[in-house]
Amino acid sequence: MPPLPTAPHFVQLHQTDHAAVRAELAAGLQARPAHVSPKFFYDALGSRLFDAITELAEYYPTRTEAGIFAQHGADMARHVPQGAVLIDLGAGSCAKAARLFPVLRPAAYVAVDISVDYLREAMGALQQRHTGLPMLGLGMDFSAGLALPGAATDWLAGQGVERAPRCVFYPGSSIGNFNPAEALALLSQARAVCAGGGPGGGLLIGVDRVKDTAILEPAYDDPLGVTAAFNRNLLLHANALLGTDFAPARWQHVAFFNDTDSRIEMHLRADGAQTVRWPGGERHFADGERLHTENSYKWRPDSFDALLHEAGFGPAAHWTDERGWFSVFFAPA
Ligand code: AVJ
Repeated sequence: MPPLPTAPHFVQLHQTDHAAVRAELAAGLQARPAHVSPKFFYDALGSRLFDAITELAEYYPTRTEAGIFAQHGADMARHVPQGAVLIDLGAGSCAKAARLFPVLRPAAYVAVDISVDYLREAMGALQQRHTGLPMLGLGMDFSAGLALPGAATDWLAGQGVERAPRCVFYPGSSIGNFNPAEALALLSQARAVCAGGGPGGGLLIGVDRVKDTAILEPAYDDPLGVTAAFNRNLLLHANALLGTDFAPARWQHVAFFNDTDSRIEMHLRADGAQTVRWPGGERHFADGERLHTENSYKWRPDSFDALLHEAGFGPAAHWTDERGWFSVFFAPA
């Protein structure tokens, strides 16, 4: 018998290419209109601010999704494979996946997140509570492409679970950060990851739905200003990564629902004309000019179902809450 794991195995993928990260940030800042990818929200503080957002009364997605899992867990267990390798995309605190352990009884847990230090901490604590469950942490950015690295498939083989079904878990409507074409590409790659294991695998995904603007907008512009702090923290993260001299106090949080594109948009609006400088570049912002920081797409269930089909999945099972605000799908690979 192999010894029980006491610490998760950890793989930090393609040693973060700092030059590429800086080039990506600089290109977005110099574009017109200026933009920065929402993945740059998630430094250690940003991950904590996001956790605080999920506690806000106005931010309904997290608790609505949790309610769906609580209410329909037994039915989900009829569709989602037991004893699977559970692959958690954007695992963050790992809390959502941990609540599924009793229902899904996974054979192994693979947590993927861009915020490596935060993930390492969360998994260390989780492993203490689940000493018998093999756990692998993957520090990687899958926004530009998702595939299990060789080190991960080797690790699965080492655990004897390379032929277990794979359940890719992508909760929280994180898919909303991708436009429909990007979402299709990511879902197709997720399907390939699922199909790489034994039969019965699939994708368990949470998706936020189109609803009244009066519900949507306060969820992204709360009166305490937690979302504003989360948005502005991206400037501090850019200062750390690129060496920009953003002064967060001179930027205002803006969030609104764009009906045409079916998405919440978040921006930071320059409060006064200012020039942002960094080693090798600068960008002048006029008073009121915006920096686009996030899109959060909202879906209608039939459109998302069609997207899953287009990505190559079989007919999906679908669960929702009483108000029809949020959807959870299980799509077989
Ligand atoms: C983590 C992308 C699902 O879009 O609701 C929360 C991020 N941004 N408040 C979302 C977010 C502002 C969140 N996702």
